[in-house]
Amino acid sequence: MQRIKVALGARSYSIVVASGLVDRLSEHLPTGKKALITTKEINKLYCERVAQAIGEHTLILVPDGEEAKQWNVLENLLGGLLDSGLDRGSTIIALGGGSVGDLAGFAASIYMRGIKIVQIPTTLLAMVDSSIGGKTAINHPRGKNLVGSFWQPSLVLIDPLFLETLPTREIRSGLAEVIKYGVINDPELFKLLESKNPESLTAEDMVEIVARCAATKARYVEQDEEDRLGIRAALNYGHTVGHAVEKLTNHDVNHGEGVAVGMVVAALISMEHGLLREKEYQLIIKLIEEYGLPTKLPEIDFSEVVKVMHKDKKAESGNIVFVLPTGIGKAPALRQVGEPTIRKALEANR
Ligand code: GLY
Repeated sequence: MQRIKVALGARSYSIVVASGLVDRLSEHLPTGKKALITTKEINKLYCERVAQAIGEHTLILVPDGEEAKQWNVLENLLGGLLDSGLDRGSTIIALGGGSVGDLAGFAASIYMRGIKIVQIPTTLLAMVDSSIGGKTAINHPRGKNLVGSFWQPSLVLIDPLFLETLPTREIRSGLAEVIKYGVINDPELFKLLESKNPESLTAEDMVEIVARCAATKARYVEQDEEDRLGIRAALNYGHTVGHAVEKLTNHDVNHGEGVAVGMVVAALISMEHGLLREKEYQLIIKLIEEYGLPTKLPEIDFSEVVKVMHKDKKAESGNIVFVLPTGIGKAPALRQVGEPTIRKALEANR
């Protein structure tokens, strides 16, 4: 079992990573009334096991994916919490991927002016990213994640056993974020990934990998909890182009796949800026390929890519802020990049 502390003063909490944690949840959970928030699909797969491990609780089911992150779903969820008599000493348990965690986290932040939430992520993406750090949100018709709050969980419980039922493509999507942590902060993680491939990763490897990613994320969150200082922004390596590609392909290219291509484009720009050597650029590409992730852009209009990136809040005075890798496991640089350089990198990456 690995325990990582997120040190945020009064809002500090632990991230516990262990195989088989799902059967020992009650050892870790706070006392008081509890509501378990999850989807029908996850409930079907894990209801008996989880319900038994949590003990007495109210179950509230929410839709899968982005469908969960809507006003009406939030309102129904809050109604369910009121009906079940949850009070200010109670705890919400979010069991699911990023969407369930975002919705439940936001509900926890506003229900009775804020109650405890325990995050139990079931996807690799949520394990290494969204369950940690307190970003919560629902969507608005005008855009994703436009309404939300920073509300740190009281605890994050990660059991890689949940990954056994996750489709391979989803695991790979999460592995793109894992590679990101290797590049921006953790050379040993990068080496560990180089020494393996997606098929040879064991359950123990996954505990090690997830714990290493969680530790990196925790350090960034501690230094820049509300993402205002340009420190936490480093976690967006690969995301600037990645988000645009996801959006322009109507999510045919999933999050991790977008991030994978985005990491390559950012690495190219980084070489152009003299921040990254060709040798390290090649190592990044090789690892992304070995994990079955794309390194080339799909057939999309590059002008649209640039337009979407400009719309993104990272755009400043015509330039777009990129997270540029400076080596393997080294802190990246945040730089404003002009359109000609971006276009050149996109063209080179067809
Ligand atoms: N997913 C990036 C962050 O939590 O800041």
